[in-house]
Amino acid sequence: MTIREQHTVTMDKIVALCKRRGFVFPSAEIYGGFANAYDFGPLGVELKRNVRDHWWRTMVQSRDDVVGLEGAIITNPRVWVASGHVGSFTDPLVECRNCHNRFRADNLPGATIGDGGTVAVPPDTPCPHCGQRGQFTEPRDFNMMFKTFVGVVEEEATVAYLPPETAQSMFINFANVQTTARKKLPFGIAQIRKSFRNEITPGNFIFRTREFEQMELEYFVRPGTEDEWFAYWRQARMDWYRAIGIRAENLRFYDTPTAELAHYSKGTTDIQYRYPFGWGELEGIASRGDYDLRHHIEASGEQLSYFDEETREHIVPYVVEPAAGLDRTLLILLLDAYDEEPDNQGLRTVLRLAPAIAPVKAAILPLAKKEPLTALARDLHAGLKRRYLVQYDDTGNIGRRYRRQDEIGTPFCVTVDFDSLDDHAVTVRDRDSMAQDRVPIAELEAFLREKIEG
Ligand code: GAP
Repeated sequence: MTIREQHTVTMDKIVALCKRRGFVFPSAEIYGGFANAYDFGPLGVELKRNVRDHWWRTMVQSRDDVVGLEGAIITNPRVWVASGHVGSFTDPLVECRNCHNRFRADNLPGATIGDGGTVAVPPDTPCPHCGQRGQFTEPRDFNMMFKTFVGVVEEEATVAYLPPETAQSMFINFANVQTTARKKLPFGIAQIRKSFRNEITPGNFIFRTREFEQMELEYFVRPGTEDEWFAYWRQARMDWYRAIGIRAENLRFYDTPTAELAHYSKGTTDIQYRYPFGWGELEGIASRGDYDLRHHIEASGEQLSYFDEETREHIVPYVVEPAAGLDRTLLILLLDAYDEEPDNQGLRTVLRLAPAIAPVKAAILPLAKKEPLTALARDLHAGLKRRYLVQYDDTGNIGRRYRRQDEIGTPFCVTVDFDSLDDHAVTVRDRDSMAQDRVPIAELEAFLREKIEG
């Protein structure tokens, strides 16, 4: 058994590491916090940016058939009526008459979901909060969209909704994008943006929050070809999680049962991750058919179709949608990379993040805080930071400095010692193996680039 299999990573360890090292903080901590809201710290924003960039490079820039978009967050409320979200984007809510806590009915033990999505809760179910049996109200539909008001005079203000998904921007701009980008079917429109849902039961740190970021692709195909594209995107998305370093044994596909499908979906496969609290959704890949475009055509009266030059016909394309959560991706990267191993100072905590994803790529560490060592080290730092996020650290003993970098996942520590002044070389320590290589200073940047960019 490897050391890695002996320890178990817990959510508590990840939450504590995130706080201690500046990845994620509880939001508004100085005011006592705000339930299920988080602020991303200096390392969290770098990690997020690296994931976003990797996704965008893979899904948009490296392909000829996908283009990007950034839609307004606050837009015409008719979008959300036509999309079906005003009418159907609901979760079944029950309240315990004894303790007045509220729960999602479909998450209660023994709950069953019938055809059409109606939820039945067994009459003697105990409340997960107070333990009283049989106290639940009948499930009622609770709409998860946040409402706000646009306009300065309250009586005249119009209701607007915060978007619960990014996807609708792509549908309402289908014609704008298709004609300006001159794309032929099949092609896709991608977006990374915040979404908002008034979740009944948020929780598990950044797994489920009310404000989160999505990375979505709407891929438009000819009707009749959707099954093959669905199979293609399922696999492509699984490959992406492997490419950012997630272990295969912690990933699986899960086909959503028909009764649990979202109102727009003809079929959804989730990519699930093995979280410390069990298997759970990471990404949804949905076959949306022409649901969205048809509804917007009907509601707006506009022509949101594709003109096929060959057949001279207007086609309403079908849509295959891989929809990923950025915050969840961050969480699984941390869970998957977290490791502890015994060493001569007790226990070494190390984040084994892929070098391309790690927030800090290298640390420059002069062995002693003395000139001319520090001057040489600062020179190296100034050169490397033009390309990468690289830290400079000359405080404390070298062992402690290595540990600090291990804990934030920095793949390489570059030590500048007294020999460096004569042999013009530095020692590069590998985070995972702790092996040390002597590398000529003139070759350092190329050496790191090869390891980081592959
Ligand atoms: N446009 C399709 C759509 O939004 P979804 O399965 O509801 O599909 C896609 O959401 C992904 O967004 C999820 O797999 C998850 O990663 C992320 N996500 C959804 N709700 C979330 C929440 N409340 N907190 C964090 N991430 C969430």
